[in-house]
Amino acid sequence: MTPDTLLTIAANAARNAHAPYSKFKVGAALLCKDGAVFSGCNVENSSYGLTNCAERTAVFSAVAAGQKEFSAIAIVAEGKSLPYPCGACRQVLSEFCVEDFLVTVALVNALEDSVTIPFAELFPHRFELIG
Ligand code: THU
Repeated sequence: MTPDTLLTIAANAARNAHAPYSKFKVGAALLCKDGAVFSGCNVENSSYGLTNCAERTAVFSAVAAGQKEFSAIAIVAEGKSLPYPCGACRQVLSEFCVEDFLVTVALVNALEDSVTIPFAELFPHRFELIG
């Protein structure tokens, strides 16, 4: 699985976003250690606070399918700023991330200009209840 393929899967997932309020479509593709990929999109709600981000949709789908070991995530969105994951998604990702977990972000119309950053750099001090 190349980073480009993961980005394409994320871009396709963004098409399924339910974003009638923000009109901001986000897609994510989460690569499991065994090579499986789970995608996600943002799912908004008229009770705004119930909105689920694309990254968390992907993580929850993967975990529900029995996966807990991930090596990378690609995130794609429209707009002008690269779609780095929000704080809530960083904390959720950190529950399952290993040392070398990579985050790739790109704008939907410029996948070739993606940026890849180690998760440890993006979110160095996670909240941890045990350990
Ligand atoms: N959103 C994501 O899907 N991922 C993030 O990391 C931040 C924000 C979504 C939530 C909402 O549907 C829209 O973007 C605007 O905040």
